[in-house]
Formats: sequence, C-alpha cells, structure tokens
Amino acid sequence: MSLNLLNKRILFRQLFDRISCTYTYLLADNVSKEALLIDPVLELVDRDLNLIDELGLKLKYVANTHCHADHITGSGLIKKRLNINTTTTTTTPTVQSIISIQSGAKADIKINENDWIKCGDAVNLKVLATPGHTDGCVTYVDYENGLVFTGDALLIRGCGRTDFQQGNSGLLYDSVHNKIFTLPDNFHILPAHDYKGQWLSTVLEEKKFNPRLTKSKQEFIDIMDNLNLDLPKMIDIAVPNNLVCGLHDIPTK
Ligand code: FE2
Repeated sequence: MSLNLLNKRILFRQLFDRISCTYTYLLADNVSKEALLIDPVLELVDRDLNLIDELGLKLKYVANTHCHADHITGSGLIKKRLNINTTTTTTTPTVQSIISIQSGAKADIKINENDWIKCGDAVNLKVLATPGHTDGCVTYVDYENGLVFTGDALLIRGCGRTDFQQGNSGLLYDSVHNKIFTLPDNFHILPAHDYKGQWLSTVLEEKKFNPRLTKSKQEFIDIMDNLNLDLPKMIDIAVPNNLVCGLHDIPTK
C-alpha cells in the first residue's frame, strides 16, 4: 500500500478483522497525539487499544460510518475501558462515540452532513451523507490528504448491499455518483470492508472499473435487486447491539 500524505503531522493506520473483513482506521495528530478510530470491531478492541498505547496517542473519538449488520462495534467497550476516571457529570469523557443522526443509533455525538470531526491540526474530516446501504451511512473525507472513508457505500469494485436496514439502491447510486464520484480523481477510497485482500482504491479507479457503479442507474438497481445474498450471520445480534453503541457503555443520547 502506498499513500503520499501531504500533511506530515497525520498518522494513519489501516487495521483488518479477518472474521468480518472489516477495516478499522486509526488517524491521529502526531503533535497533539489526539486520535480517532473509525469502525472499531468489538473482538479487536485489545489490539486497537494496545496500538494506541504503544504510539503514545490519546483517543478522542470512536466514529462509525453506519450501524453495521455484520459485526458489533467496539465503541462501547473502548469507552468503558478509557473513560474509567471520568463521569459525565463532572468531566467530558475522554473518548466520545460518533454516529450519524439518521442512523437512529445512540452515540455521544450525532453528526450530520457538512459537520467536521477534528483531532489536533492534522485530522480534519468532513461528513458527507451517503445513504442507500443504510439510511444513516456517512462518508468521512480528509480533503488535505485525499482520504475518503466510504463505509459500505462504496467498496473496492463493489458496494454495500441494499436489501435490508432501510437499503435503497437508487439512493445509493445517487450518493456514490453525486457525493463520492465528484471528489478529485486521485483521492483514495478507504472502505469499511474488503473480501478480496485489496486495501485501497481511488475515485478514478472506481469511476472506471467498479462493475456495478459504472452502469446506468436502472441497471444498477436491477443488479442490486438480483444479488440473492444470504443475510449476514450476525445481523440479529449486531444491529440491536450497534443501535446502543455495542452495549458496553451506552450513551444517553
Ligand atoms: Fe454495513
């Protein structure tokens, strides 16, 4: 993998879960040491917290791109581990969870389109609403370094399914074409999953080679209507858990 990050203050790590094929991303400001995790997985919380500890970082946010159906988020357990010495009545918790308002899930911070998530000077993510896989899906964009965290809206040569959790294939097509494909061609696509061992792509590559999203909108809808996929094994456990931040430390909001 090669990334030419323009802001040398930013620290970037791509972490992988072999079971659910989920990518978790760690971003941090190398000077202030403030850090953000995107889409942590419950079973890999120890790995993530060990890395954060080794690198001397201070985790500020755990953000989900959407309410996942295939794994339980690590957000609640991470908060429980790191917020031991703070109470909501006296101090702002060390770590705060983030998810979109439209997801319907609980989190400390509910985000909307055009909001910004910041850690120090180096991490500046703009929120784009990219519904269609679920109605609460968002994409996080680092414009300075050209990093696009697409969740399940756009995968490498694929996209998230649209047959449950308020999925809407026409809406997903519009989200990808109107929001993600209008970003600069050289921006890197960093998805929430990959099932074939690919780490990243670019906006240009997906505009040229994505087998679904290079089609017309009607052809795309027909493809998505005929995938005939089994439901994710964990959907009955993952979705209810993820609606309450992974259950371990349930936010009040
Ligand atoms: Fe998903």
